[in-house]
Amino acid sequence: MKLIPSLILLLFCTISVVLSQTYPCPFFRSLSLANPPMNGDDIYILQSLLTRTPGLENLALTSNFDQPTQMALTKFQSINNVNSPDGTLDIYTANLILELNSEDGYKDNGQIPPGFLYKVHIPVYKNRSVETTATLYDANLNVLLQFPVRTHGQNDNVTGLAENEFCEDGSTPTGLMTFDLNSPEPDPISFGPYPINRAIQGITGNAAIVISSIRDGILMHTGEWPNWTPSQPMPNSHGCVHGHPTDIDQVQTILSTQLNVAIRQNTYGAMPYTHQPQGILSIELID
Ligand SMILES: *[C@@H]1O[C@H](CO)[C@@H](O)[C@H](O)[C@H]1NC(C)=O
Ligand SMILES: *[C@@H]1O[C@H](CO)[C@@H](O)[C@H](O)[C@H]1NC(C)=O
Repeated sequence: MKLIPSLILLLFCTISVVLSQTYPCPFFRSLSLANPPMNGDDIYILQSLLTRTPGLENLALTSNFDQPTQMALTKFQSINNVNSPDGTLDIYTANLILELNSEDGYKDNGQIPPGFLYKVHIPVYKNRSVETTATLYDANLNVLLQFPVRTHGQNDNVTGLAENEFCEDGSTPTGLMTFDLNSPEPDPISFGPYPINRAIQGITGNAAIVISSIRDGILMHTGEWPNWTPSQPMPNSHGCVHGHPTDIDQVQTILSTQLNVAIRQNTYGAMPYTHQPQGILSIELID
């Protein structure tokens, strides 16, 4: 009779060990000084996050785990009271730096940089399950449309929690980025039948770290989502901004007919982006 509770306990222990042995994305491996140095986007993201710790602002973003990176990581560990700081990114340190340094502090300045025809501003909460209101402005900052959006990416399949902005399929990154109107995606079920807006290049904030060299295909679009009605929350994306079909249609109609924004041939993420971006996307955390 005692076998079943012990089995359950054993199962529990096994699950928690599995949890604690998993790197949180975008990290997936132990990072340390080696010869030749380890290299990759995960190291670029690590270096970018380290520069948010006071005193480490000048760390060079080399994508190589070099000696300055080891020293910076050691300093980050000692500032945050990690036991025996050694400049190795283990699972504990990976979780810690994501927890402490993921927020970019980006604040929208209420302006639109010269040369752009439109701006979309999106406030977001830490809890991305809460849908928020996006605002479409023209170049003179007149409000042309306000509409509900969802910026929640995929959930981690181990923890069930929302994946962060640095993960391949995580929440839409905050920050300022260029934006452009592209012809429709070929799959209307997943992307809707209308022209979409594509985030092209991050300028500041987390967007500047990942868009588009690490995370590509961040779009603002809708879908012909099965069994979905406008009274329901929208489905989670893979990092895109989701809007209701009527609103995404309105956006492209306003852009192309009122603001003379050209509908560029969809590049499907091919790099480098060959058109001059016509808009700007500003996403800021407000809690
Ligand atoms: C996040 O927001 C959703 C939608 O409002 C809500 O159901 C959920 O409980 C919230 N989660 C947390 C952790 O607050
Ligand atoms: C869980 O996610 C990881 C990384 O994204 C992937 O490699 C793995 O196949 C997924 N597992 C399942 C059961 O979906």
